[in-house]
Amino acid sequence: MLSASGPRAGTLSAMCGIIGYAGRPDAVAGISAGGHGALDVVMEGLRRLEYRGYDSAGVAVLTPLGIEYRKKSGKLANLVAELAAAPLTPATTGIGHTRWATHGGPTDENAHPHLADNGRLAVIHNGIIENFAELKAELLDAGAEFVSETDTEVAAALLASIYRGDGDADLAKSMQLACQQLEGAFTLLAVHTDSPGTVVAARRNSPLVVGLGEGENFLGSDVSGFIDFTRRAVELGQDQVVTITPDTVAITDFYGEPAVGTEFHVNWDAAAAEKGGYDSFMEKEINDQPQAVGDTLLGRSDVDGRLTLDELRVSPEELKNVNKIMVLACGTSAYAGQVAKYAIEHWCRLPVEVELSHEFRYRDPIVDSNTLVVAISQSGETMDTLMAVRYAKEQGAKILAICNTNGSTIPRESDAVLYTHAGPEIAVASTKAFLAQITAAYLLGLYLAQIRGNKFQGEIKDILADLAKVPDKIQQVLDNSGQIKELAQLMKDTRSVLFLGRHVGFPVAMEGALKLKELAYIHAEGFAAGELKHGPIALIEEGQPVFVVVPSPRGRDSLHAKVVSNIQEIRARGAKTIVIAEEGDDAVKAYAEHVFYVPETPTLLAPLLTTVPLQIFACELASAKGFDVDQPRNLAKSVTVE
Ligand code: AGP
Repeated sequence: MLSASGPRAGTLSAMCGIIGYAGRPDAVAGISAGGHGALDVVMEGLRRLEYRGYDSAGVAVLTPLGIEYRKKSGKLANLVAELAAAPLTPATTGIGHTRWATHGGPTDENAHPHLADNGRLAVIHNGIIENFAELKAELLDAGAEFVSETDTEVAAALLASIYRGDGDADLAKSMQLACQQLEGAFTLLAVHTDSPGTVVAARRNSPLVVGLGEGENFLGSDVSGFIDFTRRAVELGQDQVVTITPDTVAITDFYGEPAVGTEFHVNWDAAAAEKGGYDSFMEKEINDQPQAVGDTLLGRSDVDGRLTLDELRVSPEELKNVNKIMVLACGTSAYAGQVAKYAIEHWCRLPVEVELSHEFRYRDPIVDSNTLVVAISQSGETMDTLMAVRYAKEQGAKILAICNTNGSTIPRESDAVLYTHAGPEIAVASTKAFLAQITAAYLLGLYLAQIRGNKFQGEIKDILADLAKVPDKIQQVLDNSGQIKELAQLMKDTRSVLFLGRHVGFPVAMEGALKLKELAYIHAEGFAAGELKHGPIALIEEGQPVFVVVPSPRGRDSLHAKVVSNIQEIRARGAKTIVIAEEGDDAVKAYAEHVFYVPETPTLLAPLLTTVPLQIFACELASAKGFDVDQPRNLAKSVTVE
């Protein structure tokens, strides 16, 4: 049952690309005459979803002889070559997947689809199943066997087990029952040999849209997957199961109750569809940040609420002997490290040094076997950081990577890794990966505090509870970004902007300046607010725009009062003060030309909110100047040379 509605701009973000297709059986005959075969549709869809970035791909089709599938690590070309070498039987029902690895590296075995029920069931998945470890243990006890490291194969085995049990060999009912047991964020698609012409799918906290055709229907992680075949779409709601056949679309909740999807017309062109309806990947990724932070927090605690960073692979004993942390990173990632410094020192009472990777090696640093080096890198390929990691390893340090790209060089050469789950970051200037890196660094700090006993379990749970509220607070900042966008447009001819911050606001100020440099090619300088009177205040003249990141008035009084006096000092000298402050902080109003408020949050977590207006400002101002915010001049996404 579908209700019609006007055109909508869906805003979808996901880590993987997903395609499902159910076409009329007679199309098989038509394939030779150029009809829509399942493989045609699925591969075209995966091509449309390539932009997201991925590290493996696969397809499965339902044929009269059973399920046939091919899957390969690497780019789509590898799958195409595999299909050419070993063609699939023509079919009109199929699913396809491009994977951005989270659990398990980018290998052929870990690529989707994953099979179960003796090869009669194929499943593909997007997201993170938080409780996959517990489910896997139960399934292993029941005799299930696994060939991959993925949470997806666990979901497939669970679905198969239910299908043969309480699911009464009904794929839709089995999917409903399986979803009742799954925790986390997931979009699942499944086909079974018992149900020709049928694809069953489900979603929770991860996107899925239905494409409505004539005698054929589609599923996609976003509309760009099927935009070449239909522009009629239905966006599914939270916790819904959808069953498509060539002529029907049936939607229920996870308990079998019929549900209603809202139909809309896709009025984007294919290029816009790839960006989720935004004008740029930069804008899409800024708006992806609630999900990037939320996904990075997913699956990090056990049933007792204790932090379990399972990718860490450094024993608690080794971590207890650490007497110093050295963060190595470049650019935006180094600013994430600086934020981490404040949090980890406060929570763990461990000295944290933050070093630019390219400086680290040349200053004879003091590093030994009791040093934990934390290498922060979105790409995992930054040569400066890789070389610094190798140098630190030679000195006997333990290396822990915080990285967004599964299987990249830096994590591979590290002793342990904590992956961020921001999904592929396409725009060269980093945004969602930055917030995800800070989030992962908080998790590391809390984990260290937990195993070293610096914090009681209750204190850690309280901080995790505060962190869990951050995605919604980021969304509030995004929803109220109209004013900062207007200011950016008014300031598009500005020649210079300064950024001030104190405590954790200092690296935020540095990052805000970097974003403006990178995107709008404007001279921008960030510095510690306390440094002002030691020189930089000479830069202040009439009309000089200065952003000031103000700490919460609920934090250390001296901090807030000092920054307010900094604002007074520059305002008295003619500065145009633009203040980022916490909701309810009225003290700043008297000295600010513009105030942009962010929701209340504990001082140490504030960078996850105060950074966002600065990202939006830089993106909007650069767009107003007509610049390419995705591919700024002179920059590369990953600096793989020293
Ligand atoms: C971020 O906006 C920049 N593009 C750049 O500073 C980047 O953060 C730096 O090159 C480090 O990259 P990495 O995180 O992939 O190591």
